[in-house]
Amino acid sequence: MKHITLPSATIPALGLGTYRLKDQAATSMVDYALGIGYRHLDTAQMYQNEAAIGKALAQTSVPREDIFLTTKVWPDRFARGAFVPSVEESLNKLQTSYVDLLLLHWPNPSVPLEETVTELVKIQERGLARHIGVSNFNTDLIQQTLDLGAPIINNQVEYHVFLSQEKVLETIREKEMMLTAYCPIAKAKVVGHPAIQAIAAKHGKTEPQIALRWLMQQPNVAAIPSSTKKERVKAHIEIFDMELSRADMQVLSALHHPKGRMVDPDFGQVWD
Ligand SMILES: NC(=O)c1ccc[n+]([C@@H]2O[C@H](COP(=O)([O-])OP(=O)(O)OC[C@H]3O[C@@H](n4cnc5c(N)ncnc54)[C@H](OP(=O)(O)O)[C@@H]3O)[C@@H](O)[C@H]2O)c1
Repeated sequence: MKHITLPSATIPALGLGTYRLKDQAATSMVDYALGIGYRHLDTAQMYQNEAAIGKALAQTSVPREDIFLTTKVWPDRFARGAFVPSVEESLNKLQTSYVDLLLLHWPNPSVPLEETVTELVKIQERGLARHIGVSNFNTDLIQQTLDLGAPIINNQVEYHVFLSQEKVLETIREKEMMLTAYCPIAKAKVVGHPAIQAIAAKHGKTEPQIALRWLMQQPNVAAIPSSTKKERVKAHIEIFDMELSRADMQVLSALHHPKGRMVDPDFGQVWD
């Protein structure tokens, strides 16, 4: 496993995405993933699986302090009065007294950023979140959040071979933060792509493994692939026994295109 080292934290670079996993399937997958070496888990209030993940955390023999656990607050709970109780509810469901990283899931222009950030910082000061961050923020919003005095360490955004995040990456590295790549295998669109297939064949790996390895070889980048299938979750972590050459990396980096973004809801924002 590769780790990302920031001034205030060390984070396993490959984590388990849990969107779409519910109830017993979520408990069983988290338990399985911890058993094969995953130590970074990504959930969110919106995924409605915090309680199922909490069950897995309660029954695993992996010590809590060895697990890097992220959850995210949904934007309809960003106002003062709603934010803190929602996090307390998440912690109850997760059966833990803290998360390692708490993120604002999407920007919410109808609540002043200052109000939400004040609540976020309060959570960290109370020890309910070791670290704080944001998700789906553009570089302007990252700067605004930092200007409000919040020590955010992370921005979680869509990032894969078909979508360049050059500007966001430049900003987070300059601020000594990290980027967590969601949809890191482009929702399986990497499968069957000829250029990725050629590199995969050369290394004896699959296209999703190559797409993940490309992310792992970039400074300050983590990735949280997801699957409902255990054999795929296992394959996703089997990428630390290989190295992409500089030429491979360049071929993969050149695959981005203007229509590469896959997650762009109406409530989204102006991307970089
Ligand atoms: N912050 C945000 O706003 C945000 C947004 C989206 C996602 N996320 C996080 O990021 C995680 C990953 O994103 P994602 O699940 O949307 O996208 P992804 O990991 O890029 O792709 C998942 C999709 O690819 C399929 N798949 C997985 N491994 C495969 C393999 N080896 N071969 C072929 N197909 C494969 C899965 O189907 P099967 O289940 O059939 O394998 C699923 O349909 C989520 O679980 C969530 O934790 C965050």
